[in-house]
Amino acid sequence: MQTYDIVIVGAGGAGMAAALNASKDPSLSVAVLSKVFPTRSHTGAAQGGMNAALAYRDPEDTVESHFFDTVKGSDYLADQDAVEFFVSGMPELVLELESMGVPYSRDEQGRIAQRPFGGASSPRCCYSADKTGHVVLHALYETCVKNGVHFLEEFNLLDIAAVDGQLQGIVAIDLRNGEIVSFRARAVVIASGGFGRVYWTRTTNATNMTGDGVAACLRAGIPVKDPEFVQFHPTGLASTGVLLSEAARGEGGILVNNKGERFMERYAPDKMELGPRDLVSRSIETEIKEGRGFGEGMKSYVLIDLRHLGAEKILERLPQVRELAMNFEGVDMIEEPVPIRPSNHYMMGGIDVVDYKTCGTAIDGLHAAGECSCISVHGANRLGGNSVSEVVFFGTQAGKAAVQTAHRRQLGATDRLEELEARWNERFDSLRSKREGASLYGIRDRMAKAMWDGVGIFRDGSSMEEAEQVVDECLEAYRGAVIGDGSRRYNTAFMNYVEVGNVLQLAKTVVMGARARTETRGAHSRQDCPSRDDANFLKHTLVSLDGGAFKIGYRPVAVTKFQPQERKY
Ligand code: FUM
Repeated sequence: MQTYDIVIVGAGGAGMAAALNASKDPSLSVAVLSKVFPTRSHTGAAQGGMNAALAYRDPEDTVESHFFDTVKGSDYLADQDAVEFFVSGMPELVLELESMGVPYSRDEQGRIAQRPFGGASSPRCCYSADKTGHVVLHALYETCVKNGVHFLEEFNLLDIAAVDGQLQGIVAIDLRNGEIVSFRARAVVIASGGFGRVYWTRTTNATNMTGDGVAACLRAGIPVKDPEFVQFHPTGLASTGVLLSEAARGEGGILVNNKGERFMERYAPDKMELGPRDLVSRSIETEIKEGRGFGEGMKSYVLIDLRHLGAEKILERLPQVRELAMNFEGVDMIEEPVPIRPSNHYMMGGIDVVDYKTCGTAIDGLHAAGECSCISVHGANRLGGNSVSEVVFFGTQAGKAAVQTAHRRQLGATDRLEELEARWNERFDSLRSKREGASLYGIRDRMAKAMWDGVGIFRDGSSMEEAEQVVDECLEAYRGAVIGDGSRRYNTAFMNYVEVGNVLQLAKTVVMGARARTETRGAHSRQDCPSRDDANFLKHTLVSLDGGAFKIGYRPVAVTKFQPQERKY
């Protein structure tokens, strides 16, 4: 068993921001566990930029408008006190990152450049060409290394140990030698990312985005909040679902159907391609459904045309976007439009955070930040550019709060930690020696297809009922799964097993939340209940696991300044 004052799980933007702030107190030992080398974390895929009302490009922009845009974008499901706290802190944080070495692109006056992004009333997305998440990760990592943060790479979270609402620590596997290790800690920050891999291949997410932290919290007694709100990014590359950044539309890319029409005129005459993501994704899918797309079935697509921007602008602002389209779609956007189709991108739901200022959960000692958490600043639909902002902002809050928690809490009992460590050892040993059983990958693919078909961009009661039935069957089949690898070291098949178990549990929460919410709101679009129903559903969903059974509950939304109104773009 290892002991630290603070353990952080995940080394993306949230985890490293937390580590950096925790490491400012030299009296505390801080360790960061990561599945991958820190700068390879998934924050690197968030390319287009981070929102902050600096008012450089638009002097009329204000924190208040960022607040309103975010609440409107959320279809009024965001907690407004949390949103106000978040957007108010962003301008200072962007400058702090600059002082850490983030090389932002510049405007003509040498100030941080800002570009338009979807659902925003001003161009407030601060960027570094189209590699923003990547450069933020590097600046955070270098600063963490300078501060002596201890990184444990290729450590994967297995479970969280807590008894009677008191944290004991976490259990993880050291993939390199196959050792199951317990970490005793006064404070833990879960910053392990989202769970887009519920949709397996049709996602912009890295393969390791399997919601390990969210599922571990669920098993430890913390509900998943608002799991039914799943973001589909409008511009996944058609053949692979790989992200083509919103920066492409921010810089002026237009969406075109098979008739050569700029079809967003029909759906968002004011904002056009810069409508919020839920609306633009639905518009693309509607074009495809009504026969105005290209290709067929899962290979259908529309086009994004950027040729009018010219080679110079594309090479300066969108070099990586161009490279990705060339590598994965075989198309040079300087010469030709690029085939795109919506792809799962982000989970608005996640670990139920009950105190937005500390990112605290219902377990004393346990904090959560980043995409794995639901704080809830995005509500039913997140605005592009609010993700890198959110992960760094709330990672920072969680790191600072973890310091207070570590000073306040003593290291206590370890009985639950020991029990979980023993259980995982037994499980690992028995799976390594098991020779026959259900194919893990067959189970995963069945789940993902059911989720895409039944709980995708458009949903209805019967499609979701079918999906839930399949997810239940998959959960049952999973009990008899085989991993087919008897080795102890680098047993990635065992890790896949753990990850599939996690996405299955989370798929169940998504479909349960979605079936119970008989309204359309943000990214949850039900064809059988096409209107928003504030009277019955202006509330957060909470799916919990109680004695092996999934249960659903609700909590009111914090409405402070903006009364719900119809969203128009
Ligand atoms: O499209 C993008 O560059 C992604 C940004 C985000 O999800 O905020």
